[in-house]
Amino acid sequence: MSIEKISSKLSWLPPSAARFIEKRVKNVPRVKKMIDAENDKAMAVLEHSLRPYDNKFTKHKTLPATGVSREKILSDIQHMHDVESGRWKDGFVSGGIYHGDNEHIEFLNKVYALQSQSNPLHSDLFPSATKFEAEIISMVANLHGKGTSADNSSVCGTVTSGGTESILVAMKAYRDRAREEKGITEPEMIVPTTAHAAFDKASQYFNIKQVKVSVTGDYIADMNAVKRAINNNTVVIVGSAPTFPHGAFDPIKEMSALALKNGIGFHTDCCLGGFVVPFAEKLGYKVPVVDFRLPGVTSMSVDTHKYGYAAKGTSVVLYRTEALRHYQFYTLTEWPGGLYFSPTLAGSRPGALSAACWASLLAMGEDGFLKATKAILETADKIKEGVKAIPELKLLGDPVWILAFGSDTINPYEVLDQMGKKNWNLNGLHKPACFHIALTLRHTQPGVAERFIADLKESVAFVKANPGNKGGLAPVYGMAASLPFRGMVSDILKKYLDVIYKL
Ligand SMILES: Cc1ncc(COP(=O)(O)O)c(C=O)c1O
Repeated sequence: MSIEKISSKLSWLPPSAARFIEKRVKNVPRVKKMIDAENDKAMAVLEHSLRPYDNKFTKHKTLPATGVSREKILSDIQHMHDVESGRWKDGFVSGGIYHGDNEHIEFLNKVYALQSQSNPLHSDLFPSATKFEAEIISMVANLHGKGTSADNSSVCGTVTSGGTESILVAMKAYRDRAREEKGITEPEMIVPTTAHAAFDKASQYFNIKQVKVSVTGDYIADMNAVKRAINNNTVVIVGSAPTFPHGAFDPIKEMSALALKNGIGFHTDCCLGGFVVPFAEKLGYKVPVVDFRLPGVTSMSVDTHKYGYAAKGTSVVLYRTEALRHYQFYTLTEWPGGLYFSPTLAGSRPGALSAACWASLLAMGEDGFLKATKAILETADKIKEGVKAIPELKLLGDPVWILAFGSDTINPYEVLDQMGKKNWNLNGLHKPACFHIALTLRHTQPGVAERFIADLKESVAFVKANPGNKGGLAPVYGMAASLPFRGMVSDILKKYLDVIYKL
């Protein structure tokens, strides 16, 4: 019997029972053989697509005995760049590259080149990095309500390497504050199931128990579940504005008010929305207030490397007070290497990325962000309208510009496969089975929205006419979503990471 068959037969098992059975059967030789065979099958599908350069370029398993010429290295990298950039440049990719215009990229590259040796760890050597980071934080804080009332005039923050790091350090700050100020030794965080994986990572890395709360039919945090989850060990409640999977806005106002009432921190994950929501509000779109204007919001994550149009590798984490930010900082006073202190997870950091981030914010300016946001939201409206003519697909929830599509009649993963054949690179999601497109400036180019709708129509028609068509990733997605043995799914993911590092 195949894993798929076992999976469909056991799908009724509650997770705890599935975990119990899995632990007992996983290492039985016959079962292990079957799992390995399934893993190999899945990896064979993936490996091929991950290694297009295997026969095109020399593989360097060890250092070359004599240095390779810079010209040769540059020409190889140029070749890879040319192969890889077409797809995202032409707007076939969900999220990923948020700006992507040549002039913008070349401008950021020039800034990077000028600052490539900068390291904010050495603030004495690179006062420019200090200036850039302090100004980035101030610009982002002011976008998110700083100074609109007496109780948010001290909003402060740090620059991090990305949304995940912003979330990790914020969760650590709440854990440490609760231990210091309330004596909480078994901290808990309340996290909607749709919140980003980075919160789960924080829970694992920092040993904070994650209390997952369900979402409503509109894919937003269920307030009753949030209320029920609060206890004396709760250190923070989390909400997203919007969520990664369905682009939905959790009820941040209600959640943060509840947190305030209970003396608990509240984090708005605005990694995706940080540079769209403030401008959408100014443009008159119906978006909720999710920032420090709400008295219960005590921290936020805002990604400059997404809709801030900076190069990859920066984000901002904001706190309502310096006192809370102090719990993020690391200091060491007794090290023979000297007095050591660093604000985030890394020690040395790429100052050039902070410079490029600062440059992106300045070059865009308020007018540039308004224009970009308007273009993205208009594209979203066009696609939402166009999809209405595809009755087999349903838009999940009430999204603004991150659009997730599911179906009651056809397999969304098969549609995703067909879209892949038409060059689209969209995100497959599960619970429920669906896929999404995060719209960026790439999709605002003439004809892209129309092409997306037309391709979606054709893909749906194909799947309707040929359900269960073999050959794509749909079965892998389907199995990964439904297999009750989640440990096995986790093992498959670890194997995938092994494949990435295989030469
Ligand atoms: C809502 C949300 N939060 C956090 C993150 C994590 O960001 P990063 O990939 O920059 O670490 C993402 C990434 O897509 C996101 O969508």
